[in-house]
Amino acid sequence: LERRALQELEQCEDSNQLEAWRLRFLGKKGQLTAVLRGMAKLSEDERPRIGRLANEIRDALEEARASRQDALKEEERRRRLESERLDVTVPGWRFTVGGLHPLTRIIEEIEEIFLGMGFEIHEGPEVELDYYNFEALNIPKDHPARDMQDTFYITEEILMRTHTSPMQARTLEKTCPSVPVKIIVPGRVYRRDEDDATHSHSFVQVEGLMVDRGVRMSDLKGVLTVFARGMFGEDRQIRLRPSYFPFTEPSAEVDVSCPLCDGAGCRVCKGSGWIEILGAGMVHPYVLEKAGYDPDEVSGFAFGLGVERTAMLKYGIDDIRHFYMNDLHFLRQFRRGL
Ligand code: PHE
Repeated sequence: LERRALQELEQCEDSNQLEAWRLRFLGKKGQLTAVLRGMAKLSEDERPRIGRLANEIRDALEEARASRQDALKEEERRRRLESERLDVTVPGWRFTVGGLHPLTRIIEEIEEIFLGMGFEIHEGPEVELDYYNFEALNIPKDHPARDMQDTFYITEEILMRTHTSPMQARTLEKTCPSVPVKIIVPGRVYRRDEDDATHSHSFVQVEGLMVDRGVRMSDLKGVLTVFARGMFGEDRQIRLRPSYFPFTEPSAEVDVSCPLCDGAGCRVCKGSGWIEILGAGMVHPYVLEKAGYDPDEVSGFAFGLGVERTAMLKYGIDDIRHFYMNDLHFLRQFRRGL
């Protein structure tokens, strides 16, 4: 029995087999236990001898089992270490790190400049009511200015906003009658335009609005000068040209002196030395009144800035579609300074 047990023990390859072996020989129903049980049937003088022998065998088997168990444990440990071994010379994974989109970076820069002048940042809905996009801005249903901004309509009264100016009306309606109001509104706008190098059916604007007692055109000019210098460099000039928007009076188109100018043949400003960057003006009395303000008490200015245009000018980008192609060769150029 002992020899057979020891032989089988040698063949145990893991702890499960070892446990099965233990039950087979040493367990309550094991073969050695059976021998000890059977001793009752033995004669008086055989019993001590067989008993001693059985006990010796049990001790021997127990000891052999323990040492086999140790050996198996050691073997398992060795195998585990082998499988977990780390080759530190294997090349690592290269993680691709993203960066901020150039438009996001420009928006953040614009926000920084206007926060510095005490403006708050607000956002408004891209799906807008006809009322705020047009009506409240002095553009009634039959107004020819509606043609200036070909509109994506959702229903007769709901549309994709064509500019961020509806936030002028929304904000004034909310804040009335308190002043001052000093906000900028970055956001996406939509127009039914054919996409080409300078047009996109969707682009980003930043609206500006300041309303208080005694706000004047010169305040507009001062604020926009600070903006132009902060964005394009301290030696920039701006100039205002008369223009027309239904919701400002007077209205102006604002140019910045060409920041990329290389003289008469300049591709950016075509040699004129000036680049248009935004539309602006004094908030029309109609808009103030519609929101509940008294145009004899308060006045304000507003402007709308094209973000793609600003980015193209700042970085010398020649096609607005670059912003939307997700071409990594283009985007990676803006990754520095995450
Ligand atoms: N909303 C005008 C546009 O999209 C820009 C603008 C804003 C003009 C505010 C005047 C005042 O063209």
